[in-house]
Amino acid sequence: MLGGAGGLWWSGRAAARVAHGLRASIVERVAAFDRPALACYGHGDLTMRVTRDVDLVRLWVQSLAIWVRIVVTVVVVLPAFALLDPLLLVIGVATIPLVALANAYFPGRFDAANTSLSEAFGARADAVDDLLSASAAVRGLGGESALVRRHHDRSAVLTDHTMATARISAAWSAVPPAVPRLAIAAGLAIGGTAALHGDLAVGGLVAFTSWMTTLTLAVTIAVDLLSSRGQARVAAARIAEILDTPVSDDDPVDAETPPAGGALVARQVTAVRDARRVLGPVDLRVAPGEFVAVTGPTGSGKTTLTRLLCRLEDPAAGSVSLGGVDLRRVARVELAGRIGLVPQRPLILAGTVADNLRVGRPAELAALRAACEIAVVDGFVASLPDGYDTELGERGATVSGGQGQRLALARGLLGRPDVLILDDVTAAVDAATVAIILARLRAWAPGVALVVISHRPSVLAAADRVIRLAPDGTATAASTATAGGTVTGIGDERSVGVGGFGG
Ligand SMILES: Nc1ncnc2c1ncn2[C@@H]1O[C@H](COP(=O)(O)OP(=O)(O)OP(=O)(O)O)[C@@H](O)[C@H]1O
Ligand SMILES: [Mg+2]
Repeated sequence: MLGGAGGLWWSGRAAARVAHGLRASIVERVAAFDRPALACYGHGDLTMRVTRDVDLVRLWVQSLAIWVRIVVTVVVVLPAFALLDPLLLVIGVATIPLVALANAYFPGRFDAANTSLSEAFGARADAVDDLLSASAAVRGLGGESALVRRHHDRSAVLTDHTMATARISAAWSAVPPAVPRLAIAAGLAIGGTAALHGDLAVGGLVAFTSWMTTLTLAVTIAVDLLSSRGQARVAAARIAEILDTPVSDDDPVDAETPPAGGALVARQVTAVRDARRVLGPVDLRVAPGEFVAVTGPTGSGKTTLTRLLCRLEDPAAGSVSLGGVDLRRVARVELAGRIGLVPQRPLILAGTVADNLRVGRPAELAALRAACEIAVVDGFVASLPDGYDTELGERGATVSGGQGQRLALARGLLGRPDVLILDDVTAAVDAATVAIILARLRAWAPGVALVVISHRPSVLAAADRVIRLAPDGTATAASTATAGGTVTGIGDERSVGVGGFGG
């Protein structure tokens, strides 16, 4: 009793630790994923790996203590047979290779079926994720029925795989325990004859039968454990896939810290996607206090350029440096604090307004207010029932596009970076508000280096320099908008007045 209780306590504890450790490792790894790594997995599939697959491994670890009981049962029962009758021992021992043979046949098939089953679970979870997150975007087009159909199709595939796995598992759980049952029959025949001849006491025969039944039970449980081991092995391989996915984010061993007050400089950077050059070569320089606007037609590589400037990606050629230090030589944490990016598609997380602004960083309410005021979203927050403590729906379901963009801008401002990159964040904001935002931004942080992606003439007019990307991603001209279109190069160091920001 003590052994059983202690074993289960131990394996339960070990299982909880393993599950926690695996989840933490997966989440940390996924958080470090770069663009190519993320492209390998769907959101739903990742969720399945963190939940179902980790649970399968946990169940396997939890069952380890039961193995001890099974081994103890076999070790005790077999010598007991020898005491009764050597022939009964032969029968008992003969079951072992037969049971082993049956257990060698099924696991391979079961693993293969389980791999397909896990993939089907991932695919369906992806379909559910799409249905929940994308149906609003395509509902107006009648596209939601396609999403629902896709979900049903994947569910049907999942059901097929579930049935295939169930068939194997049914045969597996029936065949091995039948071996000791047959042995009971053989034992009764042989032992019964011996009892008739007076060579074996009837009590001995009863003991044989009940011990053999114990052995049958042990085999049945062992099969159960073996199949859960098969599931755990497939799950573990899927988890290992995530943990082994290479990412390019590893910090340099001797990381450097860029000096304060340095310029962000991109030299002849290019970006390549699917063997196609989508950007560059482009030169860009923005010093503290400067405001550089980048414009160009849709698909010309503006967003790609912003990713290079904050090292969400490394350029295929050329280099980006801050204060003369190549970004590749700077630690990630340092970079995140020095260069802030407000992306084109703002992401609002489930949680309160304050959670969304802080995203884990410590910040006083006063700082939140100040950031929201600059982003001209303070009025909106004040109008919410609980102000900064109002829960926002998952994925920003409860905020408008412009409100989401301005909340994301406030989030970017909170970090007080040296360089602030805004990717078309004013696209969904009216012109008058944009002018206010730009003026307040400059007044709040006159020393910040600003890179603003925009199509708006008013934003371009307010900039110190404008870089125009051609449709093929090359920079065609860098002109001073304020001076009416003269071209300035990368080495342009002229000081810039605040006037440009007034719009
Ligand atoms: N993950 C990707 N895989 C392949 N090609 C991509 C990927 N992301 C972007 N592209 C391509 O790279 C090019 C540049 O895209 P980018 O998002 O930088 O354009 P953009 O100038 O920001 O456009 P917009 O004004 O519409 O925001 C486009 O042709 C786009 O199709
Ligand atoms: Mg873009």
